[in-house]
Amino acid sequence: MSKIKLVKAKIKHSKKVFLWRNEPNTIPWMASKQAIKFEDHNEWYKKAITDSNCMLFIICYDGEEVGQIRYNIDKTLGKKVARVSMNITEEMQGKGIGSVAFELGLQNVKASKFAEKVQVRVHEVKEGWIRSMEKIGFKRSGFTKVHGERQLVLIG
Ligand SMILES: CC(C)(COP(=O)(O)OP(=O)(O)OC[C@H]1O[C@@H](n2cnc3c(N)ncnc32)[C@H](O)[C@@H]1OP(=O)(O)O)[C@@H](O)C(=O)NCCC(=O)NCCS
Repeated sequence: MSKIKLVKAKIKHSKKVFLWRNEPNTIPWMASKQAIKFEDHNEWYKKAITDSNCMLFIICYDGEEVGQIRYNIDKTLGKKVARVSMNITEEMQGKGIGSVAFELGLQNVKASKFAEKVQVRVHEVKEGWIRSMEKIGFKRSGFTKVHGERQLVLIG
């Protein structure tokens, strides 16, 4: 699906990333499970797009901005291991965009030498999504607790 592209996130995308983050079907899957205020989001966002340990991309489908994918180097995991977090706006979910964006992002962070490995934490109920990540070579590497909740860890 060549209609899918990742572009480097800029300050102009802040509002959209905020709105996607607070969509009802995304909130439950985010670490804090709460809607966040724009002011708090915007402070966080400004740091994220300038932080050398973070790569934040906007996912575009046919020229339209539809979601975000973000990599943060987690030094507790190793100098070159990035944790990934992503979300697609609700009306565009389930169309294959996430799988392609996930693979494009992986290629990008590895080719740019930002990270050698990528870790994802995901709720076990997301079986279809876990299968998609396994299809591109991600391996299960145990469980962790995020805000008291058990999550599956995969590395790729
Ligand atoms: C998880 C997410 C990024 C997947 O992107 P997507 O574009 O919807 O996924 P795709 O269309 O490429 O489908 C990939 C697999 O995910 C599954 N999937 C799609 N939408 C889903 C959803 N809303 N919830 C759970 N699984 C979903 C599909 O079943 C598919 O597997 P299958 O077709 O082999 O059964 C996207 O649904 C999303 O942003 N969800 C809300 C936020 C979230 O859960 N983020 C955490 C990800 S670790």
